[in-house]
Amino acid sequence: MHAPAASLQSRMSMYNGNALKIGLFGSNCSSGRAVTTVPERWTGSWPDNLRLARMADEAGIDFLLPIGRWKGYGGNTDYQGATLETITWAAGLLASTKRITVFGTVHAPLFHPLIAAKQFVTADLVGEGRFGLNIVVGWNEGEFEMFGVEQREHEQRYEYAQEWIDAIKLIWSEREDFDVAGRFLKLKGIRAKPKPYGGTRPLIMNAGASPTGQAFAIRNCDAFFVRPSRVSLDETAQRVAQVKRAAGELGREIGVYTVGVITCRPTQKEAEDYYRHWSVELADWSAVDGILAIKNITPQTVPLEEFNLKRRQYTEGMGGLSIVGDPDRVAGQLADLSRAGLTGIAVSGVNYLEELPFLAAEVLPRLERLGVREKRAG
Ligand SMILES: Cc1cc2nc3c(=O)[nH]c(=O)nc-3n(C[C@H](O)[C@H](O)[C@H](O)COP(=O)(O)O)c2cc1C
Repeated sequence: MHAPAASLQSRMSMYNGNALKIGLFGSNCSSGRAVTTVPERWTGSWPDNLRLARMADEAGIDFLLPIGRWKGYGGNTDYQGATLETITWAAGLLASTKRITVFGTVHAPLFHPLIAAKQFVTADLVGEGRFGLNIVVGWNEGEFEMFGVEQREHEQRYEYAQEWIDAIKLIWSEREDFDVAGRFLKLKGIRAKPKPYGGTRPLIMNAGASPTGQAFAIRNCDAFFVRPSRVSLDETAQRVAQVKRAAGELGREIGVYTVGVITCRPTQKEAEDYYRHWSVELADWSAVDGILAIKNITPQTVPLEEFNLKRRQYTEGMGGLSIVGDPDRVAGQLADLSRAGLTGIAVSGVNYLEELPFLAAEVLPRLERLGVREKRAG
């Protein structure tokens, strides 16, 4: 019996009517994306993730995006030292939620494509079409050493990822036995059942920052993350338009997302005070310096001014727009991003569970009134 024909658009949440999709980013890791020592920092525990996913699902949050992290960064808090593996995490959360999309973030070079494709299908069936795949090729040498896997040079990482995703897509769709005879992958007589939910396939995203990473996303993915401009909204709008144009030239459509770190409090002053408290006064500077060293950003390798700026920025995870304010300010900034052409934003805070109720009560309704999210029934 054949599954009913279905289009990617019929997949739930990520193709709903919200002009600006909102996701939570990084909750599978201890400390999330906040490199801070504040005692209320995120545990990353399973019970907290489960509570968060159910709350987010109820609140109408569109997706959960985990971080594929294998080795913590140390420092006083052992930043991201405890992390839940993302496909099993997603499967558990999909079984416990109704409408939210849950991604797995997968290092292509570390997962055999046949095992990975079956794990994705299993999670997708558990979630009845709500699993999404975020492909990463890796950058952190220490993580690869831990696996005994040699990190390829940059261009080759994406050549490998191309063969890997081509194989995954075939495994998802081919009904007859087939071979993969690539430069890296040589797989014989592949037979893989069942297929993803409902005759379609999971949404695929990527967040490469390099031109090669971007080209990979444009060729293969449904969604791509761009770095938000710290200079102006216009610059962000140009980046979004450029990605959409490049996809259009290949006859493809791509959703363009970005990353944000939200500190929202009832008043602007409270928000700014708390932002300074967690991200400056009580930042985990030892962890920040460890991350910067892995990225070879030290006072010896970059000008001191740039080093200090990066040091400050890295307390909020690796990249992302700081959105600090009362609900009006936060909603206004998010609506501006939507007007700049963005499809969505993956956000984090300090303690997701403590902060989500306020966002859901104060910011989401404002976004509805600003016309960038649909009115919620009930
Ligand atoms: C939204 C977002 C999520 C990412 N998630 C991960 C991740 O979970 N694990 C990881 O190793 N890298 C992650 N990255 C890093 C990218 O996958 C990529 O390696 C990095 O941006 C460098 O780009 P390049 O590969 O094009 O050089 C993420 C980046 C962004 C913007």
